[in-house]
Amino acid sequence: MEKMTCFAEKILKAHAREESKEEIGLAIDQCLTQDSTGTLVWLEFESLNSKLCPKTVSYCDHTSLCFKGESSDDHNFLQSIAKHYGAIFSKNGNGVCHQVHYERFAIPGKTLLGSDSHTPTSGALAMLAFGSGGVDIASALAGSLFYIPKPKIMQVKLTGRLQWPASAKDVSLALLKMLTVKGGKGYILEFTGAVDTLTIPERATIANMGTETGALTSIFPSDNVTREFMRMHGRENEWKELKADINANYDKTIEINLSEIKPLVAMPSSPDNVFSVDEVGGEKINQVYVGSCTNGSYRDIKIFAEMIKGKEVSKDIDVVVSPSSKTAFDALLEDGSIAQLSKAGCRIAEPGCNACIGIGYAPGYGHLSLRTVNRNFPGRGGNEDAKLALCSPQVAAASAIAGKIASPIEFELVKIPTRNFVIDDSLLVYPNKDEIGKAKIVRGPNIIKLAEQKPLSEELSGEVLLKLGDNISTDEILPAGPLTQHLRSNLPAIAEYAFHYKDKEFVARAKKAKESKISCFVIGGENFGQGSSREHAALALWQLGVSAIIAKSYSRIYRANLINSGIIPFCGEIENIEQGDRLIIKINDLKKSECLNITKNTKIVLSHDLSDREIAIAKCGGLLAYSKNVK
Ligand code: F3S
Repeated sequence: MEKMTCFAEKILKAHAREESKEEIGLAIDQCLTQDSTGTLVWLEFESLNSKLCPKTVSYCDHTSLCFKGESSDDHNFLQSIAKHYGAIFSKNGNGVCHQVHYERFAIPGKTLLGSDSHTPTSGALAMLAFGSGGVDIASALAGSLFYIPKPKIMQVKLTGRLQWPASAKDVSLALLKMLTVKGGKGYILEFTGAVDTLTIPERATIANMGTETGALTSIFPSDNVTREFMRMHGRENEWKELKADINANYDKTIEINLSEIKPLVAMPSSPDNVFSVDEVGGEKINQVYVGSCTNGSYRDIKIFAEMIKGKEVSKDIDVVVSPSSKTAFDALLEDGSIAQLSKAGCRIAEPGCNACIGIGYAPGYGHLSLRTVNRNFPGRGGNEDAKLALCSPQVAAASAIAGKIASPIEFELVKIPTRNFVIDDSLLVYPNKDEIGKAKIVRGPNIIKLAEQKPLSEELSGEVLLKLGDNISTDEILPAGPLTQHLRSNLPAIAEYAFHYKDKEFVARAKKAKESKISCFVIGGENFGQGSSREHAALALWQLGVSAIIAKSYSRIYRANLINSGIIPFCGEIENIEQGDRLIIKINDLKKSECLNITKNTKIVLSHDLSDREIAIAKCGGLLAYSKNVK
């Protein structure tokens, strides 16, 4: 009997061009880059001397407020290089990449690769969308395949219907409570069942936060709800149906009864630290932020605005609202919601990432900021001494009025009217084919090309510079936000902030080791490198001379970023290694590596799960060197 196929598998099959026992090489239809990871992507792509292959959109959203001139230089560079190679350019103020992408460009059944870990948001429109590190994107821009570990598919079977004031954000938080920040690892989350009860913005919230479970990506089917959304955005002609076969086979199935979902809050400092709103109700807050690629849609902000209509937000706190796209912002302006928000005492921020990544609106010492964003790792909001909690627009509205975490249970149901959106291209720049290959690329002095990647040594001898625990995020490895946002195109300068919030002496020790020409090692626990996809968190360590990491396990994107940077992500018995220990790692052929702890006079068994292709990349010193070698 023919195997019944789920819809993620249908897209995988249609795009698979290579297959080994560990990996699948996929053809990529579309790429997206954003400004904080994108400058390196475009520099890396330029070094490959190729034409631009997939349809690509370069977004400015993370550093759109340009606190420093270097960010303006980055945007000028990105606009000019988009023009040179023929990419679409989304200007500052047009919105957060994921929101704009699913409104304007996502197409059911296609593949998308983005230099941002929340690229799976377009899974709401049945795209198979992956976040990845910059070098992978640069290669895909040049037409190379994108390799994923052979995925397992987890069916998330929805039943029932959400009951007000429960929301899609609460579904995400319930899923995180169930799976934790590691439970989705190795899986594509395929949502089935009562999906037709969810709008596209609700599906986008859920697909967006699937990333927090460690999943490869999340995907919804393409149905009449998808078609109606695409019609409202003037793109019905790009719709096509995509659904699973009846009785499709899955590697694992979990069920969520939407009718039983209640308002939830993820308390500091992990998205899976989830409580019911009643359990944490009454907790004093200092700030409410509504926006981000998770909950900044027209629907989300409209719900918030309607809930506070005719009321005032607490004068003891700061309430900031940032719609996530110009399309949403303009619709909210036109229907009077922005005026309602302003009248209630909210501050309005232009569409962009803003507070989500600590660009402005950083909470103060010991403050608790309640946000509709997707991450609450330490330092994420721009201040390591502040605490962040995650919630829905509904909980945010009730809490903004109360000045403390509060249940929205007493609020009347908000009905969102069906509406058509105005297609406004005033902040989108489309390429002109006459300028492709001719337009001048503009580079500010802060735009520094990457140093050459050197082949891996046969033996790594050096010192353990830092030992860390479980679930270390890329925000902790290299902080985002105001400290580093202007240095995204300058690796030597941004590397000065490696482990800034964990150990301020780390960089000095690494520089000393580099001067003495000895290797540097970092030790981590489980799920090392979770969170943002920014490859700076791997490249900064490479810049400082870190040549291997030994941890219990890695997040998918960080693991790939390490390999692409020429740093080996080993697994091993970290209990037998302390900070300051001297290690010798014999690389051999990278099939079987040995580690001697000279300080403790012990042998440590090291393992890794690199495929043959990844071993070849690591031996070359990284993906850029490898790509040039195989050309
Ligand atoms: Fe931007 Fe925050 Fe999303 S930084 S891309 S709004 S996770």
